[in-house]
Amino acid sequence: MKRIEFHDREHEIEEIRDILNSEPSLITFVYGPINSGKTALITHLIDRLPEEYVIFYINLRTKFLASYDDFIESLFELEMDTNATKIKRKETLAELVSSVTKVTGIPVTKEFINYVFKDNKPKNAFSYIIKLFEEVKATGRQPVLILDELQKIGDVNVNGSLIYELFNFFIDLTKELHLCHVFAVTSDSIFIERVYSEAMLSGRCEYLLVDDFDYETNATFLKEHGFTNDELEVAWEYCGGKPVCLLKLIRVDDTEKIAKKMLATRMNQLNDLLDYLKYTKPRITIGDTDYTVEREDIIIILARFASAECIDNQGLDRPAKHYLIKNNILFLDPDMGSIKPQSRLDLLAIRKLMDGM
Ligand SMILES: Nc1ncnc2c1ncn2[C@@H]1O[C@H](COP(=O)(O)OP(=O)(O)OP(=O)(O)O)[C@@H](O)[C@H]1O
Ligand SMILES: [Mg+2]
Repeated sequence: MKRIEFHDREHEIEEIRDILNSEPSLITFVYGPINSGKTALITHLIDRLPEEYVIFYINLRTKFLASYDDFIESLFELEMDTNATKIKRKETLAELVSSVTKVTGIPVTKEFINYVFKDNKPKNAFSYIIKLFEEVKATGRQPVLILDELQKIGDVNVNGSLIYELFNFFIDLTKELHLCHVFAVTSDSIFIERVYSEAMLSGRCEYLLVDDFDYETNATFLKEHGFTNDELEVAWEYCGGKPVCLLKLIRVDDTEKIAKKMLATRMNQLNDLLDYLKYTKPRITIGDTDYTVEREDIIIILARFASAECIDNQGLDRPAKHYLIKNNILFLDPDMGSIKPQSRLDLLAIRKLMDGM
């Protein structure tokens, strides 16, 4: 199968490089609509960073997080003694960090694991990580911590909120200790909105939007893959700059046929959702209160996209808005105060459905 090279993102890469070139002082939230290429950008960068950066990349997507222990386990990677006779056991933190460059997880040995899990307190795990990062720093290198799919910790409770403890830890690593760069990646815009309004983070974090490609980037990408001008216009009309859809179009012969099929599929899904709402009223929790989602409110919001690609975040029914965001139909950008469909396909499907009502 044809391998598709990573394309562009020069602007975003430059922004991240600028952050990495300065002393760690803010937490960076990398956010954007689903499938916009956040993880691809981060992994592309990790592969290219000079050795002076020691990357700890943890993707929570595949982790099962039902408890505090699950969360701590997801962060750490136990160093196994695979060949104990030949390789000396790493018994100190200095020995442990001596060989690390790019790791998926915070390395820990049997010697330290009890300390990390002691008393079920995040404090112990976090102080272990700080000591480990200090050892990395002592070798003249710069630790970088990246947590992908961070919103998955939203539901884990530990004597209060784990998010709160974790954010305090991030603030320690950046603003207080200037020890480690912290990147938190997520496509969950409700989570980002929550982060955005969190008083403790105010002035302590920055936001980096990784959006779908713009028209020019799209055109260069698709032309590199042999698209004619007509095919390019069809791709833009149906898929906008959503990398995952573009990859699909690159791999097929009949661009228009497949693009139309993608739209039909999305319309079916949305149509079914609207039908489902005739029979049930889902519940959405906002703060500590449960609200029911009304179909009419959903339609009022969707109808706004008949003539606009992007609307103001204010003045919308909040349960309906949250429902549409949680179901990955709409994307909220709290930094811009705006809401738009998750993709061009979503926008077209919404318009067609609203047209027929
Ligand atoms: N700049 C790019 N060049 C080429 N392919 C890309 C690029 N960005 C993303 N892709 C491809 O698009 C697909 C979706 O990207 P990715 O998984 O990184 O998105 P994401 O924003 O992390 O998604 P999610 O919101 O689900 O976390 C992947 O197959 C990826 O390889
Ligand atoms: Mg991702």
